[in-house]
Amino acid sequence: MNLLTFDSHQKLHESGAGIITGLVQTNPRAILGLATGGTPVGIYQEIVKSFQQGIVRFQDTTTFNLDEYVGLPEQHEQSYRSYMNTHLFDFIDLPRSQAHIPDGNAPDLVAECQSYDRLLDQAGQIDLQVLGLGHNGHIGFNEPDHALISGTHIVELREETRQANARYFGSLGEVPTHALTMGVGTILKAKMILLIVKGQDKAEIIHRALTGPITTDCPASLLQTHPHLVVLLDSEAGSLLQ
Ligand code: F6R
Repeated sequence: MNLLTFDSHQKLHESGAGIITGLVQTNPRAILGLATGGTPVGIYQEIVKSFQQGIVRFQDTTTFNLDEYVGLPEQHEQSYRSYMNTHLFDFIDLPRSQAHIPDGNAPDLVAECQSYDRLLDQAGQIDLQVLGLGHNGHIGFNEPDHALISGTHIVELREETRQANARYFGSLGEVPTHALTMGVGTILKAKMILLIVKGQDKAEIIHRALTGPITTDCPASLLQTHPHLVVLLDSEAGSLLQ
C-alpha cells in the first residue's frame, strides 16, 4: 500500500488528478472506475483543467461508475449521472457511449445489475478504480453487513449513509432508500485502486479500514488485501495513522 498525506487539498487534488491523467496519457484506452460524492470533486476539476490545457484526451477511454440511486430521475440534480455530467463529462471529450453508470430507473433492476456486470466483463479489468470512503466503512454503496456481494446489486442504504447524503437534498425524506452498486468483487479486481479520504470526521474509519481486522463490518478493510492500493489523505483524515 502506498499512503500519501497532503497538507493542502489543492495538492491532494492535483496528485489524484495526476495519477488518473498519467494513466490515460500512457494508456488512452484505459478503463476507469469512477466515484461520486464530495471527495473527488476537486480531482475532477483538475482533470478538466488538464483536458483544457490539451495535456490529456479521453476519446478512447471507458468509464464505469460505482453506483446510482434507485428511482431518482436521471435529470435530477442529485442523480449520479447528473453529478458526473456537471463535474466531469460535460467538459471533456469522453464519448457518452463509453461512460457507464448503472440505471437506477431501469424497469427490471435485477436485469440492469446483470447487464452492468456483462458490460464490465466485456470491457475487461478496470485499470484504475477511484474510491471514496463512507463514515461506516462503505465503498461504493457496499454497506457493512454480515456478508458482502461480489457483483453489481441492489442495496438498501443504511440510515447513516442517507443522513450523510441528506446535505445534498432538501431533507432526509428525499434521499433515496435504495441504490445500485458495483460489488466488492468487481472493485477488488481492479488493477489499481485509488482511495481518497478527506476530513477529521473520516480519521477513525480510515484508521480502522487500513489497520483493523479485515471484516465485512467495514467493507473498506478488504482493500488491505489489494496488491496495488494507493491512498490519498488530507492531514485531518490521516491524523490517527501517523
Ligand atoms: C460514491 C460512493 C460512496 C462515496 C462515499 C463518500 O460514488 O460510492 O462510497 O464515495 O459515500 O462520500 P463523500 O465523498 O461525499 O464523503
